[in-house]
Amino acid sequence: MQFGRYGGPEEMSFGQHTLPKLAPGRIRVRVKAAAINPLDWKLRQGAMKVVTGWKFPQGMGSDFAGVVEEVGGGITYFRAGDKVFGTAEIRRQGAFAELVDADANLVIHKPASLSFSEAACIPIPAATAWAAIIGAAKAGPKSHIFINGCSGAVGSFAVQLARTYGARVSGSCGSSSTAAVKSAGVAPVFAYTDKAAISLNGPYDAVFDTLGTLPVSEGLKLLKPKGCFVDINPTPGRMLRGFVSGRYKLVFATTGFKDLPDISKIAAEGKLRSSIGLEVPFADALAAIKDAELGRRPAGRIVLLM
Ligand SMILES: NC(=O)c1ccc[n+]([C@@H]2O[C@H](COP(=O)([O-])OP(=O)(O)OC[C@H]3O[C@@H](n4cnc5c(N)ncnc54)[C@H](OP(=O)(O)O)[C@@H]3O)[C@@H](O)[C@H]2O)c1
Repeated sequence: MQFGRYGGPEEMSFGQHTLPKLAPGRIRVRVKAAAINPLDWKLRQGAMKVVTGWKFPQGMGSDFAGVVEEVGGGITYFRAGDKVFGTAEIRRQGAFAELVDADANLVIHKPASLSFSEAACIPIPAATAWAAIIGAAKAGPKSHIFINGCSGAVGSFAVQLARTYGARVSGSCGSSSTAAVKSAGVAPVFAYTDKAAISLNGPYDAVFDTLGTLPVSEGLKLLKPKGCFVDINPTPGRMLRGFVSGRYKLVFATTGFKDLPDISKIAAEGKLRSSIGLEVPFADALAAIKDAELGRRPAGRIVLLM
C-alpha cells in the first residue's frame, strides 16, 4: 500500500516495492495482520511532513503482527520463524504490506494467547494509553481518572490499564458506545455534553482527553490541586494554553514503546483486550482505510489480514 503524494484517500494504491538489503538492527517480518490507526491516514494527509519528508512513493501502515522472515546484523533476540508484533517507525511506515522491515527495538515476541489480529491492535494505542495512564497520570488505587473519549482504541486501553492498576475511572463517550464502556467498568459514563455532571463527579486526579475535544481550560478546572491534564492531540493553541498551567502533560505513543514488554505481559494475562471491529482481506484495504477515515466504521479496530 503506497501513496505518490500527500493527500486524501484517492492517493492510495497497491504497488510493488523491492525492499533493500536488511540493515543491522532491523528485522523483516511477513505480515499476518495490520491494524488501521488514525495516524495512518493523518501521515498520508501530510500531518508530519517534517518527519516523513518529500520522497515518494511512501508506504503506509504502522502496527502489525507476523512471522520473522530475516534478521539484520547484530540481532540475536529474534530468529526466522518467530511470531512477533510491533510497529514501523513514523518516518518509514510500510506495515500495510506482505513484508515489512522494522527497527527490532519496536518489535517483541507475540504471546501465544494472542491472535495475530489481537496483537496487531496493541502497539500504538496501548503504548499511548500506557504513557498517559501509567506514565503521566500515575494511576493507582487512590486515583480517580476522567477519560474524555473512553470508547476508542486508546480510550478503551486506558480504561483497562487504569482499572488494572486499581484506579476509579469515569468517562465520556458517544451514545452508541455507552453500554460497552459501562461493561468495561467505567462509572459513571457521561455524554460529551453533560459538562455540569462531569464537573460535579470530580475533582479528578487526572483528566485524559483522547479526542482533543475538551478545551484545556475546562479540563484543568476539573482537577484536584495536584492533578494533571493529559493530552495526545496537540495543536499549537492547546499546547500554548497547557504549558501556561504547568499541569498539562502531552504524551506520544513513542514514549510508551519501551513499555511494550510490560503491555504484552498484561495482555497475555487477559487484562488488556483488543477490541476488533472488523477483519478484512488485504485486497480490500483501500476501501477499508477510506471508510475508517470517513467515519464509516464499526466500533473497534479494523484489521487487515495478509
Ligand atoms: N499523541 C499520540 O502519539 C497519539 C497516539 C495514538 C492516537 N492519537 C490520536 O488520538 C485520537 C484517538 O485515537 P484512537 O486510535 O483511540 O481513535 P479511535 O479508535 O478511532 O477512537 C476515537 C473515537 O472515535 C469514536 N468512534 C468509535 N467507534 C466509532 C465509529 N464506529 N464511528 C465513528 N466514530 C467512532 C469514539 O468516540 P464515540 O464514543 O464518541 O463514538 C472514539 O472515542 C486520534 O486523534 C489519534 O490520532 C495520538
